Amino acid sequence: MNEEGLVEKGFLDIEIDSSIDFVKEINKLKKEKNAVILGHYYQTGEIQDISDIVGDSLALSQAAAKTTADMIVFAGVHFMAETAKILSPDKKVLLPDLNAGCSLADSCDPVEFKKFKDKHPGYTVISYVNTSAEIKALTDIICTSTNAKAIVDSLPANEKIIFAPDKNLGNYINSVTGRNMLLWDGACHVHEKFSLEKILALKKENTEAKIIAHPECEKPVLMVAEHVGSTASLLKFTQSDGAKKYIVATESGIIHQMQKASPKKLFIPAPPNDSTCACNDCEFMKLNTLKKLYICMKYEKPEITLSDELIRKAEKPIRRMLEISERLGL
Ligand code: 13P
Ligand code: SF4
Repeated sequence: MNEEGLVEKGFLDIEIDSSIDFVKEINKLKKEKNAVILGHYYQTGEIQDISDIVGDSLALSQAAAKTTADMIVFAGVHFMAETAKILSPDKKVLLPDLNAGCSLADSCDPVEFKKFKDKHPGYTVISYVNTSAEIKALTDIICTSTNAKAIVDSLPANEKIIFAPDKNLGNYINSVTGRNMLLWDGACHVHEKFSLEKILALKKENTEAKIIAHPECEKPVLMVAEHVGSTASLLKFTQSDGAKKYIVATESGIIHQMQKASPKKLFIPAPPNDSTCACNDCEFMKLNTLKKLYICMKYEKPEITLSDELIRKAEKPIRRMLEISERLGL
């Protein structure tokens, strides 16, 4: 079977000419096809460097809604590419590897979530963007870790709220807003693997280092963190803060941007419980490679497709998030 036939069948790691300069070819394809590459901070450094826009979930959703490109190549995971398709349904949206899922999105099954929602009538549903399009269609307002607090604060104090699917982010937002949102019991396997004990031991050896953490981490880690925020917020903090060393409790890809922005500072990945695994890497995010990016742009596959009905239902809560974020200058 030829290259295109193999790609058609979903074989992305096919053998191709080893002399291909992926960076050069990807840049050529970008121009030829009027494509934009949106890269998340958790991608490998080389993918971040070839992306047109590198950002957190909110920035990339905003970029997907605004782009004038004909083709959006999402260097991220499935729910991100799906969100881009919902916001730009007339554009071709590609994801280099359709297996790039998300354990957090998978922790919220639409059938079970619908039952949970039906058991609690009168509740407003806020869902994290890390969800499938089906969950978004059951949601009133989407949020990301950058705007979650602002979205919750935008609702009246007595509003009854269901927050899904991340219980750690939900607990954190409850603690900073004084709300008592009803939480779905979901979590991200990467952010739940950090070891508080090892982080504290590392801090003891590096007393001058500041612990910074993503709100998807568990409460004990968040309690010892000197700054808690989305990937964009953590990056910004390391740029404006005076410390020279940081213990970073989130996926390790963000360290690429931190190091680029502050080359004289030291960034130590927070240690996971299991020292034998590459637990600071999200294996879904890291499924994307330059080679897959090249193949995907060349053959325009795999493509994200969604029914018009699902797009219509899922778009509303995402647009509400974008409107509130714009109003608040986020
Ligand atoms: P942010 O991009 O909002 O920081 O979230 C990180 C994440 O979990 C992406 O999978
Ligand atoms: Fe999902 Fe966690 Fe990977 Fe982000 S880091 S894509 S939340 S599994």
